[in-house]
Amino acid sequence: MYATNRNVNLPQPVRFRPEAVVLQGLGGYVPSEEVTNLDLEGRLDTSDAWIRTRTGIHSRRFAGPGEATSDMATEAARRALASAGNPDVDLVILATTTPDHPCPATAPAVASRLGLGPVAAFDLAAVCSGFVYALAQANAAVLSGQHRKVLVIGADTFSAIINPQDRNTAIIFGDGAGAVVVGAGEEGQPGQLSAFDLHSDGSCQDLIKVAAGGSRMPVTPDTSDADRYFSMQGKEVFVQAVTSMADSSRAALEESGWRPGDVDWLVAHQANQRILNRVAGVLGIDPEKAVIHLDRVGNTSAASIPLALADHAPQFAVGEKLLLTAFGGGTTWGAGTLTWPAITVTDPQQELNERTTPCPNPQPM
Ligand code: UT7
Repeated sequence: MYATNRNVNLPQPVRFRPEAVVLQGLGGYVPSEEVTNLDLEGRLDTSDAWIRTRTGIHSRRFAGPGEATSDMATEAARRALASAGNPDVDLVILATTTPDHPCPATAPAVASRLGLGPVAAFDLAAVCSGFVYALAQANAAVLSGQHRKVLVIGADTFSAIINPQDRNTAIIFGDGAGAVVVGAGEEGQPGQLSAFDLHSDGSCQDLIKVAAGGSRMPVTPDTSDADRYFSMQGKEVFVQAVTSMADSSRAALEESGWRPGDVDWLVAHQANQRILNRVAGVLGIDPEKAVIHLDRVGNTSAASIPLALADHAPQFAVGEKLLLTAFGGGTTWGAGTLTWPAITVTDPQQELNERTTPCPNPQPM
């Protein structure tokens, strides 16, 4: 038996449990290589007209040679931290399906590059729902008093896992990163995260997947392209995405005490403009209130919601009500609500616009 005084007369950590968690900073980053629908027309059996009318996407961005998820995540995080006034962060959550390596997680590398010190840092895998999942965990971490200030990043490099010859996926996905900072606040303060609703259904895991590369099917020299690359059963995903995002949105709205008519902006995962229109329609929200960013960057998976927020930040007014919702592989889905805070955001789009040919207005779908 060892004598120990570990628990004797030691000051217990005093956990500060705030009454609310608020969004305090936001930033986004998109890489410079632009891949337009016309570029894809030359490589695949597809057309600009088909992609525009079936998805609403005109263009997307691919990471440059050697550019990895941590590079984009670090840049988006720098902008989010600057937007929040460079606070001390004590937790980093990185939502991603495309970490730099299978092992270790990418979040510690990002935290280190940001000079955050020995903070807690982990990756979260929920594919396109990753950002909503991560934001919900950050909210809970601050509310519990476990952490004070959380950096939440959604970053993905799908160009590394899509088969460039697969027209079912190559036309949809792009690369990018978005990040937010959340911390303690007061009830009713603009920026408050109000409610979250999260779900999964692993019986549908085959709808969206990369079959090889894990413990079930390690990659070998004989691994086929079909197993090595990302695959998606688009039609079924479309149907489930609409139903799941609508159901989850209703639950989050109810818990927030909001009606669909109260929502100023619907910021849904940027998968397909037809999906966004349907979700808005099912919920009874004016489709004009659905934020569209996919036309210029495609589906950026875990980055899509924070990138859409950063892109549209100048159009949001302080105190406006935002509904976030996403659906992705797993399958996973969820929704969250917040009011818009008084923050300054470096506009990733402005930089994007300087480098890119302007897109025509999205077509009605
Ligand atoms: O991020 C996670 C969540 N992901 C999503 O939410 C994606 C959900 N799914 C979708 O967005 C859509 O299902 C797609 C954009 C993937 C496909 O659109 P769709 O309207 O469901 O097309 P489809 O698969 O029903 O195909 C319609 C037709 C077919 O031809 P036939 O059989 O009618 O002659 C396809 O072969 O369009 C053809 N097609 C294409 N044609 C040109 C399928 N892909 C293409 C293509 N270019 N890229």
